[in-house]
Amino acid sequence: MTKPLDGIRIIDFTHVQAGPACTQLLAWYGADVIKVERPGSGDVTRSQLRDIPDVDALYFTMLNGNKRSLTLDTKTQEGKEVLEKMIKTSDVMVENFGPGALDRMGFSWARIQELNPKMIMASVKGFSDGHSYEDLKVYENVAQCAGGAASTTGFWDGPPTVSAAALGDSNTGMHLAIGILTALMQRQKTGKGQKVSCSMQDAVLNLCRVKLRDQQRLDKIGYLEEYPQYPHGTFSDVVPRGGNAGGGGQPGWVLKCKGWETDPNAYIYFTIQGHAWQPITEALGRPEWATDPAYMTAEARQDKIFDIFAVIEEWLKDKTKYEAVDILRKFDIPCAPVLSMKELAASPDLRKSGSIVEVDHKARGKYLTIGSPIKFSDLEVEVKPSPLLGEHTDEVLTDLGYSADDISKLHAAKAV
Ligand code: COA
Repeated sequence: MTKPLDGIRIIDFTHVQAGPACTQLLAWYGADVIKVERPGSGDVTRSQLRDIPDVDALYFTMLNGNKRSLTLDTKTQEGKEVLEKMIKTSDVMVENFGPGALDRMGFSWARIQELNPKMIMASVKGFSDGHSYEDLKVYENVAQCAGGAASTTGFWDGPPTVSAAALGDSNTGMHLAIGILTALMQRQKTGKGQKVSCSMQDAVLNLCRVKLRDQQRLDKIGYLEEYPQYPHGTFSDVVPRGGNAGGGGQPGWVLKCKGWETDPNAYIYFTIQGHAWQPITEALGRPEWATDPAYMTAEARQDKIFDIFAVIEEWLKDKTKYEAVDILRKFDIPCAPVLSMKELAASPDLRKSGSIVEVDHKARGKYLTIGSPIKFSDLEVEVKPSPLLGEHTDEVLTDLGYSADDISKLHAAKAV
């Protein structure tokens, strides 16, 4: 079956997480993604947090499936010549080196355009071009702090807190993938390539837009009625951390279920959606709350919201998180169990949907990885294991027109 991105060749000059997540996504959908790595060591994640000695770490294998690996020392003259050939024959180059690294290597945007005016050059950096922090190297949590996630996450009496979700890394990679596909569409119309950039700060901020909404509301009226600080606590002039409060105007909280004393994830998220109030009162066995003016409206409930959550927790005391959700779903109440990674890994639903897949790696054997979170009616995404370091070096060089003799010389010169 032909894939949507069949025929698109991508030079994958990425490392760690932000860039590799982007190119892996494009590889799933059919692009020929050639991961260019330094001979000998490759992407640092191959050896980071290893669970099996001398075998590529899961950090690498879970971000580099469906790709080919070429080792190339782009600081040698021979290596630069190979990269030039690749640029001339590829559609997209993706990189997430520290600021200025590509220019220092001799591959500025101007030079790349000279080599191939149709090239789409896509970059992830910590901060956008021209930003006063543009020279900074950035990792995940740095971006979460710079993009507004940390200052608004956690509890009001604790420090800024980062999320376990890779809002800075994989999220930026997803944004970049949208940028690349957009530039490919535009190239179909104009015949020209372009530079596509995505900063980690901007990608985090994009996901924190409701907090920018809240800042403006706070500036205007001095309080935020859906935060736990309202109405009994106080507000300063900055958006506070709201614990587990719902961000969209539906009050909600993480509530204890049976077994919470020993199981760190025996909780559900419970949402008191306005129009679900009546079913909630029924589910809780408190039907009188449906008609009591002190409880009838979201506004009336707000000053008692934690008392209401306490009543719900009392109701949850003898129910596991799964039993609770099974009851609440009958009343159309938006809720879910708090799921551990162990539970997600074993979930038959996620295996069935292909959202978690098992693949077989040459050196590691079987491992779990994430499958495409985007589902298509006319595309079956096959998730393949990551390549070994340099597994496809000779194959890629042959594709580029190098003879066996030339390839031997490149090996001898330690350029590949
Ligand atoms: N052959 C020869 N040299 C190579 C090479 C290859 N195949 N691949 C990379 N290099 C060199 C680069 O030219 C650069 O050398 P230089 O600094 O002498 O010019 C160096 O390796 C890579 O540097 P850098 O990307 O800055 O790596 P780092 O380990 O110091 O920093 C990051 C890592 C992630 C902090 C940094 O890359 C960064 O800020 N990236 C942008 C933001 C980002 O994506 N961060 C999140 C990662 S999940």
